[in-house]
Amino acid sequence: MGRPLKVSKPEPATNNSEPVPAKTTMTLPLKHVAIIMDGNRRWADQRKLPRLSGHKEGVKSLKRLVRHAGSIGLEYLTVYAFSSENWQRSREEVRYLFELFSNVLRDEFDELSENRVRLRFIGDMSTIPARLKKSFERSMEESKHNTGLNLQVAINYGSRLEITQAAKRIAAEAAAGLLAPADITEELLNSYLFTGEIPDPEMMIRTGGEMRLSNYLLWQAAYSELYITPILWPDFTPENFDEAIEEYAQRNRRYGGD
Ligand code: FPP
Repeated sequence: MGRPLKVSKPEPATNNSEPVPAKTTMTLPLKHVAIIMDGNRRWADQRKLPRLSGHKEGVKSLKRLVRHAGSIGLEYLTVYAFSSENWQRSREEVRYLFELFSNVLRDEFDELSENRVRLRFIGDMSTIPARLKKSFERSMEESKHNTGLNLQVAINYGSRLEITQAAKRIAAEAAAGLLAPADITEELLNSYLFTGEIPDPEMMIRTGGEMRLSNYLLWQAAYSELYITPILWPDFTPENFDEAIEEYAQRNRRYGGD
């Protein structure tokens, strides 16, 4: 699969009582990558295929990448599967996408779990069809002790909605006397987000070439390195992912300092 990622492998453990890890872990320059998987329909248009079939091809691309991310020892991968704005697409497309999410979860959960992937669905679940919501909840519960890749799938997600919900909950607690205004810090607000328990992404990748964040992880990506590629999501390979990580490793992150 192309040339290997230029990162160093840790020394093998010498203490015999330590279990040998099942996979090869690499020393990566980052823990968390967020991805906007854009360009599925354009991929299908280019091939004169039905537009929605691009999403099926997008699933294949995601599967390849999840396997790869786990095998190189990435800790967190967060992908944008359905935004709170995607409801504006046709009913047919929304239905198609939800069916796809449901089928993928049914067909892939066992392999994900065998590979120790911990799944989290992030977003506003209040308008997700009840059966789908149940299967999201079940998969999160069943994978919660897995210690491999943490895979966050953003569904009905939008940052403004997320921050607004956090503000409402904080206000309700303040009104009930459980919080004082002085308690409201960045850390506190962060803990009310859907991603409260996971670190911020160091890099955000967007495929399909658009130069915007589309209401995705706006708080969490405050300092993320942006990596935008014209490659359409179904064509995005593990090798392309490694190139993005290599470019990340070359960048100089200053967090507003000198
Ligand atoms: C953007 O392409 C993609 C989506 C709105 C859906 C993303 C869904 C998948 C990749 C399917 C796999 C996901 C899971 C969690 C199983 P687009 O439709 O905006 O493409 P365009 O920019 O070419 O119109």
